[in-house]
Amino acid sequence: MRIKEHLKQLKPYQPGKPIEAVKAEYGLDKVVKLASNENPYGCSEAAKEALHHEIQQLALYPDGYSAALRTRLSEHLNVSETSLIFGNGSDEIIQILCRAFLNDKTNTIAAAPTFPQYKHNAVIEGAEVREIALRADGSHDLDAMLEAIDEQTQVVWVCSPNNPTGTYTAEGELISFLERVPSRVLVVLDEAYYEYVTAEDYPESIPLLNTYPNLMILRTFSKAYGLAALRVGYGIADEKLIRQIEPAREPFNTSRLGQAAAIAALDDQEFIASCIEKNQAGLQQYYDFDENARIKVLPFTDKLCFNRL
Ligand SMILES: Cc1ncc(COP(=O)(O)O)c(C=O)c1O
Repeated sequence: MRIKEHLKQLKPYQPGKPIEAVKAEYGLDKVVKLASNENPYGCSEAAKEALHHEIQQLALYPDGYSAALRTRLSEHLNVSETSLIFGNGSDEIIQILCRAFLNDKTNTIAAAPTFPQYKHNAVIEGAEVREIALRADGSHDLDAMLEAIDEQTQVVWVCSPNNPTGTYTAEGELISFLERVPSRVLVVLDEAYYEYVTAEDYPESIPLLNTYPNLMILRTFSKAYGLAALRVGYGIADEKLIRQIEPAREPFNTSRLGQAAAIAALDDQEFIASCIEKNQAGLQQYYDFDENARIKVLPFTDKLCFNRL
């Protein structure tokens, strides 16, 4: 047996230790896990209730097209149903995009450090990964990313807010970048933390899809919606692009439970509003702690995506 050469350089994803394991190892009673950016306030009660009905249907495959969720989400976002693709978390959309666009004759461009799954999946496909260091303030260096594009470039990843720095790409900068990226290159704008952002110059990206058919926006129910366990993420893009990548998606990639909970969660925007408010207060508490302890953290510039209280 000969495994793909590129796989040999990769390690399996190392999730953070479960809270129970850390408690046992260090003899602690209370542990707050920050590593996975989960919602500490859980999820909407309505989402939990929606599971009761679906739990009776476990013998049945889910709707592979996620039709009900598609309709509800398209209304919520004010986009056409055909401009959406659903994934087993946005992780899977990243995998689908890499399967669809990359091979060993292509390259892809991402920031460093950023969410590691862009590189991980690109390496599996054998693509060259061009990593462009973040600027000193933790933001993406879009000019340098642009310069790294050549004839073999297929995908550029922009993570905004960026994991792990929390910095975002402001509207003017994003538009100027999109104007200059060749239209044959896909720009993936990963907005996993979209709901949390309060900065005024954070772009409302969906209208940009009308001008830039090479743009794909990624969002997820794992963060503000608090449904990480149920694995529902989605992409929004020009319907032609969605049609082209759909064959690379597994047929039943989102579960019945995930679809039902996501629909109910969308109906409970009060929960999201309360999480955003509590998150801002928690962020301030975190900054105060850092300041008192003289710990220097990013972002320490105006590229902060969450307004300080
Ligand atoms: C920037 C970013 N993108 C995507 C994901 C993947 O989220 P999920 O697969 O749970 O939708 C994460 C998760 O931490 C993330 O931080």
